[in-house]
Amino acid sequence: MGTVVDAVKQEANGTLPNGKKVQVVFVLGGPGSGKGTQCANIVEHFGFSHLSAGDLLRAEIKSGSENGEMIQNMIKEGKIVPSEVTIKLLQQAMMDIDNEKFLIDGFPRNEENRAAFEKVTGIIPEFVLFFDCSEEEMERRIMNRNQGREDDNIDTIRKRFKVFVESSVPVVEYYESRGKVRKIDAGKPVEEVFEAVKTVFSSIHAKVA
Ligand code: ADP
Ligand code: C5P
Ligand code: MG
Repeated sequence: MGTVVDAVKQEANGTLPNGKKVQVVFVLGGPGSGKGTQCANIVEHFGFSHLSAGDLLRAEIKSGSENGEMIQNMIKEGKIVPSEVTIKLLQQAMMDIDNEKFLIDGFPRNEENRAAFEKVTGIIPEFVLFFDCSEEEMERRIMNRNQGREDDNIDTIRKRFKVFVESSVPVVEYYESRGKVRKIDAGKPVEEVFEAVKTVFSSIHAKVA
C-alpha cells in the first residue's frame, strides 16, 4: 500500500510541510549520557542545528500553551509526551531555522515517536548517534547538572531510566537492525567522547559532501 509515495518520501529523505528538504541525524542515549553536551560540539564543528525534544517541550510549558500542564506532568513523571505534540514542535523548528542539517536529540524516545515521525514527515535519519553510558555514571552526571530541572531528582531519574530501558532501547535496536546506529562509548571525559563523535561525522561528511 502506498509504495510509490513511500519510495518517493524515502528518496527525498523527508520534506517539511513548506517544501523544505532536510537532513536529520537522531541523537539517542540515556538521560545524562551527554547528548546535549556533544550536540553543542557537533553544531560548532559540522554546521548542524541542534533540536532537543526535551528543550522544545520545556519551552512549550514556559510559553503558556494549552498543552503546557499536560507536558509538565508527564516530564515530572518521566513519561513520554504523545508524539503528536513533540512532532509538531520539531517540524515547526525545522521550518523556522535557516539550515537543512538537523541533530534531533532525545527523539524518537519510543516506538510510537519513531513510527509517527516517519509517517508524518517521511524523514528517514541519515544515521542514529547512540551514546552508550552506564546508569551509575548517568545518575552521577544528572545529580550534578544543576539546571534546576524538575525531573533531575532521584525519584524521577529512576523512572526515566526504566522508560529508557523499556521504551527507548528498542528504538535503538530497531535502527541497529537497519545498520543505522553509530555507537559511542559515552562514559569517557567530554573531549574523548567528542573525538569518537568527530570520527563518525567526518566520514559521513565526506560521503554527503
Ligand atoms: P543529556 O542531554 O544526554 O541528558 P547532558 O549533555 O545534559 O546530557 O549532560 C548531563 C550532565 O553531565 C551535564 O551536567 C554535563 O555537563 C555533564 N556531562 C556531559 N558529558 C559528560 C562527560 N563525558 N563526562 C562528564 N560529565 C559530562
Ligand atoms: O531529553 P530530555 O532529558 O531533556 O527529556 C526530558 C523529558 O522530556 C523526558 O523524560 C520526557 O518526559 C520528555 N520527552 C518526551 N518525548 C521526547 C523527549 C523528551 O516526552 N521525545
Ligand atoms: Mg539533554
